[in-house]
Amino acid sequence: MLVLGIEASCDETASAVVRDDGCVMSDVIHTQTSLHAPHGGVVPEVASRDHVRHVSRVVERALAEACVSLNDVDAIAVTTRPGLLGALLVGVEFAKALALATEKPLVGVDHLHGHLSASALFLPGTKGHAAPSFPHVALVASGGHTALYLVRGPHASQVEALGATRDDAAGECFDKVAKAIGLGYPGGPAIDRWAAKGDVSRCPLTFPRCRLGSFDFSFSGLKTRVAAHLEAHGLPQNEDELANLCAGVQAAIVRTLVSKTIAAAEASRVPAIAIGGGVAANRALRAELFREATERGLQCFLPEKFACTDNGAMIAWAGLQRLRAGEQDDLSLDASTTSILPSVTRKGSGRR
Ligand SMILES: Nc1ncnc2c1ncn2[C@@H]1O[C@H](COP(=O)(O)OP(=O)(O)OP(=O)(O)O)[C@@H](O)[C@H]1O
Ligand SMILES: [Mg+2]
Repeated sequence: MLVLGIEASCDETASAVVRDDGCVMSDVIHTQTSLHAPHGGVVPEVASRDHVRHVSRVVERALAEACVSLNDVDAIAVTTRPGLLGALLVGVEFAKALALATEKPLVGVDHLHGHLSASALFLPGTKGHAAPSFPHVALVASGGHTALYLVRGPHASQVEALGATRDDAAGECFDKVAKAIGLGYPGGPAIDRWAAKGDVSRCPLTFPRCRLGSFDFSFSGLKTRVAAHLEAHGLPQNEDELANLCAGVQAAIVRTLVSKTIAAAEASRVPAIAIGGGVAANRALRAELFREATERGLQCFLPEKFACTDNGAMIAWAGLQRLRAGEQDDLSLDASTTSILPSVTRKGSGRR
């Protein structure tokens, strides 16, 4: 079985063809980063118009790179939520048109459910992945969301919220700190690279240890701490200072994510954890989470790096799970700005 996935929830137009064992036959992403860069953030109308310009070409390329035609595909999966409404509608209407023209089944997918299911995906020629069994604990750490879930089954309705960020998402924190120290957008990969050359013990800042007991997150204090330091001392003066600052910031974020994820798995008495979202590409997070999980006898499922940031493959894969459960949508499928998952954010809820 082959599923065509289409993702257009924010500033990436993406499409992929995925086989029912998780093999990603093609994975095409057109990013709008440079289009939004002069504005300092994603401009919704600019995003929608760019999706309109590129969606058809991106889908055609995904089919061509998988060496299949639309006729060979068994179903069409598309992101319906959460995201920018105008952007989502482009993908949803395009997918509906394809489904109508080809008489193929259509399934809507929640973008965050896509992120948290992505660890089963693999590229042709690489070793296949076992997907985590149920129940397991999953951490979604992306540009817009950071939340911990107890995943009881493959369906989005079987996902229970354990905790979520009360302010910034982890990726947002990486991005805001990177912007403040002049590393540009997206900040996560840049901080990841600089931190690898830095010495966390020589970071000029101290960061509070995260409080356990609650599975909520808070990253705004860290961002403020960096801003205050820069105001008092200015930007890092050389590469060593920059690398050490990045190492300190990254270590604080990673320590919080790892300790809460492990604590959530132990409190929920599950044997496995999985992660997803752009921050799951962070090398320190992957290494630390894997090490700590293994030490505690927990299985740790890390998505391949290509499957962490936004992509069409995770949408095709999550859609496949819905199809396997006997579900599909009709042409009344609609887009929504909110996730179907519970409590994806607790912004404004105050201190943990
Ligand atoms: N190596 C990395 N280390 C840390 N963060 C990273 C890394 N690679 C990407 N990121 C971060 O991941 C985020 C993008 O991830 P993703 O594409 O999943 O987010 P999004 O789709 O914008 O948000 P959401 O999924 O919540 O709607 C950015 O904040 C980026 O800085
Ligand atoms: Mg995303």
